[in-house]
Amino acid sequence: MQPSPYTPGEIARAVPGRGELIEEFNERLSLLVDLQRLIGRIHVAFGERGIGKTSLLRAYQRLAEERDVLCIWVTAGEQSGLIAQIIDGIREATSSWPQATEASIRQHLDALTVTVGVPGIASVSAKTTRRTAPDAVGARALEKLIRATTEDRKRVKALVLFIDEVQSADADGIRTLAYAWQHLQAEAPNIPAAVYAAGLPNAPEQIADAVTFSERFAYRPLEMLSVGAQVAALRDPASELHVTWEPDALELAAELAVGYPYAVQLYGDASWVAAGRPDAGGTITPRHVKTARASVDRDLRNLFAARWANTTANQRRFLVAVAWLQANDDAVDRGDLADVLDVSSRSLSSVRARLIAKGLIRSEGHGRVTIPVPGFADYIRELEDDPR
Ligand SMILES: Nc1ncnc2c1ncn2[C@@H]1O[C@H](COP(=O)(O)OP(=O)(O)OP(=O)(O)O)[C@@H](O)[C@H]1O
Ligand SMILES: [Mg+2]
Repeated sequence: MQPSPYTPGEIARAVPGRGELIEEFNERLSLLVDLQRLIGRIHVAFGERGIGKTSLLRAYQRLAEERDVLCIWVTAGEQSGLIAQIIDGIREATSSWPQATEASIRQHLDALTVTVGVPGIASVSAKTTRRTAPDAVGARALEKLIRATTEDRKRVKALVLFIDEVQSADADGIRTLAYAWQHLQAEAPNIPAAVYAAGLPNAPEQIADAVTFSERFAYRPLEMLSVGAQVAALRDPASELHVTWEPDALELAAELAVGYPYAVQLYGDASWVAAGRPDAGGTITPRHVKTARASVDRDLRNLFAARWANTTANQRRFLVAVAWLQANDDAVDRGDLADVLDVSSRSLSSVRARLIAKGLIRSEGHGRVTIPVPGFADYIRELEDDPR
């Protein structure tokens, strides 16, 4: 008996299907480390809940750490604000450094802390300045802090800031970060630093609302996994434990998970259990996958129920309409939705935006939307058949 190597609800150990992004990151990493250059654009990967954003950032972090890059990890959304979180991260990472270096960094940390203010008070003063000039002072102070942190090249080859859940970052924080990066780009292209962020599908919009020059950001949508990537995600962890999946079992699991990474992990995990947590030499067959199905469905239904419970009546009407219309067509037209819901198409904008922000629907351009997470539309249609 061997424990399951799958990771439902946890950081994935490998990220099959993200090869192009990993390749791009590796290429940037050599600019950063080998050529000691600034990565001028802030990279933002975005996608639905459970599509693999955090796992991707963690994979980037592993690659960077292998090359002695100092990695600062922030999960945005804390009350104190993004910049205060970055300050805390840098303070923690550098506190054990030799005194001389640390003293210089600390001086810049303190200067930046003063300009962004004490948590709580910061948010008040930030609101009052929102419509005036951008936080130029904070951006300068952050820029100096980045320079100071990367100064001792014997200690750090480069610095990467990772920002998860970037859609929850405060607008002032985003603005300060973006301006600091703009300055560095113009004045210090030889500072080896980069920012990699991830967020829900509304992240690009949130960022565009905070800063006017959002073309300085490089956005990368995360898609559902291809069949090949799903197969790798199922096969490789098993084969490390000398367990094989029959080809038909792989095909069935990939077909049922429809490319949704969380579902792939659920299928891997439940099939492993159904196969009796095989020893080396064991095999996973289509029968095991079929047995797994009931437990995966239950887990997914729990997930969907939680998401459904977290919507308003208005949002539910919208989702129900999309779920039914989507049954006939790939993406749903704004006009068709307005017809079905018997409202003007303009009046749908705000509910649409909220659902995109929650990651429940995805915009496909030209006002068209889909419910992208596999199975969620079916779940909604079934609820309607059997209202409780
Ligand atoms: N490339 C991948 N291949 C297979 N499984 C993956 C991949 N990426 C992530 N997963 C799995 O998918 C699930 C969701 O991953 P992760 O937490 O990284 O997603 P997320 O987009 O950050 O989700 P959330 O929006 O809820 O924070 C996890 O079970 C993880 O192990
Ligand atoms: Mg995440």
